[in-house]
Amino acid sequence: MQYASLQGGKRLRPLLAWHACVAAGSPGEDSLPAGCAIELVHAFSLVHDDLPALDNDDLRRGKPTLHKHAGEAMAILAGDQLMMEAIECLLSEGNHPPHRRLRMVRELVTATSRMVSGQVFDTLGGLPEGLSDSERVRKIHSNKTGALITAACRMGGLSAGAGEDGSTMDSLTTYGECVGLIFQIVDDIIDVTQTSEHTGKRTGKDASAGKITYPAMLGMEGSLAEVDRLKEQALGAVSVFGDEGAGLVALCEAMCSRTK
Ligand code: IPE
Ligand code: IPE
Ligand code: MG
Ligand code: MG
Ligand code: MG
Repeated sequence: MQYASLQGGKRLRPLLAWHACVAAGSPGEDSLPAGCAIELVHAFSLVHDDLPALDNDDLRRGKPTLHKHAGEAMAILAGDQLMMEAIECLLSEGNHPPHRRLRMVRELVTATSRMVSGQVFDTLGGLPEGLSDSERVRKIHSNKTGALITAACRMGGLSAGAGEDGSTMDSLTTYGECVGLIFQIVDDIIDVTQTSEHTGKRTGKDASAGKITYPAMLGMEGSLAEVDRLKEQALGAVSVFGDEGAGLVALCEAMCSRTK
């Protein structure tokens, strides 16, 4: 579990929770249980994503993947337990009242279920018939990657005591959905354009694995245009926060231009 969670990683999801909490009017520190919980689920999702039965990858964050380092059985079990550590974190850490902890647990559970569904669509198929190419790729990406990123933003808001159905949460949700999709579109672009040395994970693999990606479905120009469109929407959603939203604006910009 330590190998999979404490060695590297951009910590994007905790940063989103932190800045969502600030945007919603509380100190970023209040988001730490939420940020840690999301990051633990993210670490679990990467361990299982790399397994031979899924993406079969050998390299993660510049090191051998966990199943290469410790064997497949330990990688499966460490992933299982990382999920439980995430729930434990929300139940025990920080000073939040019980009803808020419960809402955050529910948020994380729902988002994790969506991540798993997205991984099923990505790995095994099973999308509904009759969807257009862009609807298919959007459905996969918004589940496998967007759900946890949206939950990071929403749980940041909940950490600040925002009401579940209020306008603060609506703005954070729209922002999260947009940057969640941006994040996976850019991940797909990175797979085509960057080297393994630069990214610390194997690249150039999506096409050979027959993955449904934005560059494969919409081409590079179409993918970049979609990033721009989503960026406008994300920034529009958080403009209501004024100066307090500056962290979310900066994170969105960084997510659009990252190369690893
Ligand atoms: C990689 O996520 C998996 C995707 C959802 C695309 P990150 O790019 O956030 O991975 P780390 O945590 O920085 O290694
Ligand atoms: C990962 O998508 C999504 C999840 C881990 C849920 P990818 O399979 O594209 O991520 P990388 O490229 O291996 O990091
Ligand atoms: Mg994958
Ligand atoms: Mg993968
Ligand atoms: Mg990828």
